[in-house]
Amino acid sequence: MSPLQYQSGFGNEFATEAVSGALPRGQNAPQHAPLGLYTEQLSGTSFTTPRATNRRTWSYRIRPSVMHEPYREFEKTTLMRSGPFNEAFTPPNQMRWNPLPIPKEKTDFVEGIVTLGGNGDPSMQDGVGIHLYVANAPMIDRFFYNADGEMLILPQQGRLWLRTELGIIEAAPGELAVIPRGIKFRVELPDNESRGYICENYGQNFRLPELGPIGANGLANARDFLAPVAAYEDREGSFEVISRFLGRLWRAEIDHSPLDVVAWHGNYAPCKYDMALFNCINTVSFDHPDPSIFTVLTAPSTLPGVANADFAIFPPRWMVAEHTFRPPWFHRNMMNEFMGLILGVYDAKAEGFLPGGASLHNCMSGHGPDAETFERASHAELEPQHIEGTLAFMFETRLPVRPTSFALESKILQHEYYECWQSLKKNFSGAK
Ligand SMILES: [Fe+2]
Repeated sequence: MSPLQYQSGFGNEFATEAVSGALPRGQNAPQHAPLGLYTEQLSGTSFTTPRATNRRTWSYRIRPSVMHEPYREFEKTTLMRSGPFNEAFTPPNQMRWNPLPIPKEKTDFVEGIVTLGGNGDPSMQDGVGIHLYVANAPMIDRFFYNADGEMLILPQQGRLWLRTELGIIEAAPGELAVIPRGIKFRVELPDNESRGYICENYGQNFRLPELGPIGANGLANARDFLAPVAAYEDREGSFEVISRFLGRLWRAEIDHSPLDVVAWHGNYAPCKYDMALFNCINTVSFDHPDPSIFTVLTAPSTLPGVANADFAIFPPRWMVAEHTFRPPWFHRNMMNEFMGLILGVYDAKAEGFLPGGASLHNCMSGHGPDAETFERASHAELEPQHIEGTLAFMFETRLPVRPTSFALESKILQHEYYECWQSLKKNFSGAK
């Protein structure tokens, strides 16, 4: 039987056991848990968070999580960075990066995380870290957890097998995976290498956006999110746990696999979602709505209507707007826009924005279609157009994204990016 089995729903009260009878019936913490297991609760929100957004999971495991050697600072240097992101001053320029090459030396998922920027501070539980990852070595005896934030992971090339405490998720390019704060996992690479993007959300958990006048259906439907079923490892040996805590990496030795949860129930769980299932809503008359209409998941800030991070996608869809400039318009934004491309071409750019690459348009920095796209779209015949074979995305954040020194000094930075707008013509015909 395939180990890849899922339960459908977003934030549901899931219940799953890898061994029959491992899940207690009728109560959370009996004096003796079934099968000699230990009971442990994992709270992903405060105990008193309102019921609609309260997240916690009860696990029944071979050993409790407290059993490990003390953590010491991780001895290796990596390019993973964290808030407050004060390595370098942030210019107001539009920025764009080429894809990161897959390294030649053996690099696993944790050591292959390269931070492009971020905002806020994990100690304030506010803001995001924005990372690329490149990996070509599996994590077998190394486990990882992130106490600073949940991780929204977007493979762009090569699948990931995310072996988590609560079960196994396969995430392929075109799918997203969310690993909640604190859940231990290790990453295997069924295609031998993988590259992608990560949004490390220091703030409140990602959730489905409200639908307002759209109604009860549309955008990302809850039933299309998949949580794993319980799957455990009963392994003993010489292993290590890497912890991400307050912006640093820490390492502890452990003599058993911490992925030893035999049964669990609760609504705090990793999940994945196939972005091809996103139900796009858009105009059938003229103009197009703000890109918030493409929001898959949102992580609210403390300000009503203002997200710490929105995750939006630009998937294949029909464009039918009449007497309308079809690509994204020129604009400036209070919010801050980091974009990536999973596959294909983004409809606002003729060239230069590559799958695996990224762009950043910070607060009030003007941006929009490049000159070639503007010319083409201005003269295009406005018939129904199907945008095919593309998947771009945006991490839109409340606070300006501060690039890392790597992002500003690396060869992957496109210093000539600004040139794509410089040949826009003056078309003003003067007063008549
Ligand atoms: Fe924009």
